Amino acid sequence: MADAPKTPWGGRFSKPTDEFVVEFGASLPVDKRLAGEDVRGSIAWAKMLGERGIVTPEEAKKLTRGLAKVRAEIEDGKFEFDPADEDIHMAVERRLTEIVGPVGGKLHTGRSRNDQVAVDSRMYAKRAALELARALTALRATLASLAEEHLGVVMPGYTHLQRAQPVLFSHHVLAYFWMLARDVVRLRAAFIAADVMPLGSAALAGTTFPIDRRALAAELGFGTLSENSIDAVSDRDFLLDLAYACSVAMLHLSRLCEELVLWSSQEFGFVTMDDAYATGSSIMPQKKNPDVAELVRGKSGRVFGDLTALLVLMKGLPLAYDKDMQEDKEAAFDAVDTLAACVRAVDGMVATMRVNEGVMRAAAEGGFMAATDLADYLAGKGVPFREAHEVVGKLVAKLEASDRTLADATIEDLKAASEEFGEEAVALVGADEVVRRRQSAGGTNPDRVKQQLQAARATLAADEAAFENAAV
Ligand code: ARG
Repeated sequence: MADAPKTPWGGRFSKPTDEFVVEFGASLPVDKRLAGEDVRGSIAWAKMLGERGIVTPEEAKKLTRGLAKVRAEIEDGKFEFDPADEDIHMAVERRLTEIVGPVGGKLHTGRSRNDQVAVDSRMYAKRAALELARALTALRATLASLAEEHLGVVMPGYTHLQRAQPVLFSHHVLAYFWMLARDVVRLRAAFIAADVMPLGSAALAGTTFPIDRRALAAELGFGTLSENSIDAVSDRDFLLDLAYACSVAMLHLSRLCEELVLWSSQEFGFVTMDDAYATGSSIMPQKKNPDVAELVRGKSGRVFGDLTALLVLMKGLPLAYDKDMQEDKEAAFDAVDTLAACVRAVDGMVATMRVNEGVMRAAAEGGFMAATDLADYLAGKGVPFREAHEVVGKLVAKLEASDRTLADATIEDLKAASEEFGEEAVALVGADEVVRRRQSAGGTNPDRVKQQLQAARATLAADEAAFENAAV
């Protein structure tokens, strides 16, 4: 053939690939961001080929030097992608061969793009999991500081979005701290899932060359080696784990943002967004909208979509590698990028918003949120709790009928409800008192919340220290 196709599989083919098929099959626009990982994996591979005598020491040197040059071009933004490069692996090898000549063709000895894309993706997933865990931990620090700054502020606690019992604002804020702490645990699990070195699996069955997989793992910072070459090139569980960790973290941010949207409304007025983290309306001059919180809430949907896309992508694929799997990266990158952006946005929004302590306190006082405490009081006097509940329920109904609240209840009102009520019961209904009495471990009593804050700070310090030394 005069017009030999310039594909790496040219030998077998008598026609060039259809132009549109080339474009259709290309993953370069998406996977070019794996350039750093790809070069790193290739340098480790080239070194190992030299050490094992699969290529000569001189050839290995040429390959690693050429790859270092490719890396420098990528880092300096000087790397020129050729639209004919199908993916990042082909682009790097093409450029390497331009630099070092035909010896560049030896780099792929014993290797396949199937194990190559697996190792690149795993290195990416490890770094992404670590960076997201760091960012979420920074947000946890912001939440802990917020809780610390406003210790003593009471607000209504809700169930069914109905006022339930007063709680400390700090207690409510720290609830999110623990959610995000669990997200970090999930990201760690995703990191561990990715920390398995697949190189050496080649296309699917392993290779005939006397490679050293342990040396590759050590060079690339992997904890373990994959045990089965077929599994190693077909496995994308680590991306599912990462996307799941991202999804749950987004779910948590979405719940926080939903509360902030409510709280910044005129109806609640609990917080005021900083001008730098809110937007106005192009028509209504008075408006100040919590766009950041709304967007984060909205973006949670696309991350769940990414997880679903990965699940559906992988289901039903026969072993081993299938081209379908090329679609994995867009979803994984999007889940990671979206969460990273949302964590940053929420961190800034929460750090700058004003907490309207007086509004929260006013909402926590009055009303009927001390009803449980009155029932608890009767139960403490030996009245079966179910009966106490009934008695206080009737008291609430009676007060409500005369437009009064528990705060207005006199000892006569209480006595009329039950003879068991003593003078001291009248003082039980203040929000501070209700909060103070909840001393069970993990409860909203101020001393308990201070202990909780200490525990939160301890986990923060431990995670920060772990992440400081972590390298990928
Ligand atoms: N671009 C491909 C991907 O992302 C790399 C692996 C290609 N392997 C193959 N046998 N076509 O999945």
